[in-house]
Amino acid sequence: MAVVRSAFIDSLAGWGVYVVGFVPAAASFWLGATGGLGADPVRAFEQTLGLWALRFLILTLAITPLRQLAGVNLLRFRRALGLLAFWYATMHFSVYLTLDRGLIWSTILPDIARRPFITLGFAALLLLVPLAITSNRLSIRRLGKNWRMLHRLVYVAISLAAVHYLLATKVLDPTQAVHVALVAGLLGYRLVRGVIRRPERRIA
Ligand code: HEM
Repeated sequence: MAVVRSAFIDSLAGWGVYVVGFVPAAASFWLGATGGLGADPVRAFEQTLGLWALRFLILTLAITPLRQLAGVNLLRFRRALGLLAFWYATMHFSVYLTLDRGLIWSTILPDIARRPFITLGFAALLLLVPLAITSNRLSIRRLGKNWRMLHRLVYVAISLAAVHYLLATKVLDPTQAVHVALVAGLLGYRLVRGVIRRPERRIA
């Protein structure tokens, strides 16, 4: 009975993450629809979605160090956070394609191919696609060890997304600096832990 109750609470909490996760998009959409997004609402909406995509990627990668360093186990929320990151990145891309570029493919394709910051964002989004598709239990079971290998692509995706963000503006602002520092810290943590654990594995 206690196990059933705990599974129910976990699943409820998981749904809670989705509900809370959609709030920034809904709030931004509402502001856009009611004239509260300033002089360039499309740009503001596009930026908000991009920023939240990066934030959810950061939160997804923060789960492991939180558990290892602070003993806080939020592993059950990792999938929801990762899927929210993918959803925000897809919406960010959709706003770029539709509201920003008006679905004019003759300008979109050269833009993706020639503007380095757009190319990097696009590459980051493409890398997230297989991760989102294989984020279910069945894929985890079927792919076995390869699932972990595949999901390491998230490190490449977040690196590309961080550089995309850095290149999106001409001057580095404090919000950008904080987000990029968090990405660097999370990747640095993995790198250092990997180096420390390698000799341990060799001995074992
Ligand atoms: C994982 C994928 C992606 C992430 C995490 C991401 C994140 C971001 C972030 C954080 C910004 C800056 C927001 C700000 O200035 O506050 C941004 C800007 C932008 N992104 Fe992305 N992005 C991604 C993919 C893409 C893709 C696929 C495209 C289009 C092909 C794209 C197009 C843009 C554009 C045009 C801007 C500049 C908006 C402006 O300031 O006018 N992004 N993105």
